[in-house]
Amino acid sequence: MLSASMNEKLNAQITREFYSSYLYRQMASCLDQMGLSVLEQFFLDQADEERMHAVKLIDYVQKAGGKLALGAIEAPPAEYESVLAICEATLAHERQVTKHIHALVAQAEEDKDYSTRSYLQWYIDEQVEEEASFADLVQLAKLAGSDLLALEDRVEKILAKRAPALGEGAQLGG
Ligand SMILES: [Fe+2]
Ligand SMILES: [Fe+2]
Repeated sequence: MLSASMNEKLNAQITREFYSSYLYRQMASCLDQMGLSVLEQFFLDQADEERMHAVKLIDYVQKAGGKLALGAIEAPPAEYESVLAICEATLAHERQVTKHIHALVAQAEEDKDYSTRSYLQWYIDEQVEEEASFADLVQLAKLAGSDLLALEDRVEKILAKRAPALGEGAQLGG
């Protein structure tokens, strides 16, 4: 059973996950306008993941007997000076999200709500991955400087590594 404040905080987190998805969609479009189609794909994938984070939490709130109340999603910034500015904004955003996840864990511990505490472990681990992946992206963008084709090339390799199962599946099926 969720406490009222745990329920409220989980609802707020669901809205934040949707905001993350919204933000990365917007960024994907900005990258498309910069002619960076590989980075656009990276951000589109990221936006899908964030939506999945929201949906998983909705399932949990429902299973745990809570009440879902979706909040308003604010508009993300639509103008960025450069690809580096976008990457840096994502890293700053993910660090904020990590703080919010940690606050959820603190609430679960205060409530002695061990089910929610256990459920949130997945999000803690996921945030470690997310921060690492965006920190890598910032690093790559800095190293590439104005050589955006080199950056696209590096990101393409990251995307290719992420989908080995897809390739294997296609081979087995074919
Ligand atoms: Fe997320
Ligand atoms: Fe994220």
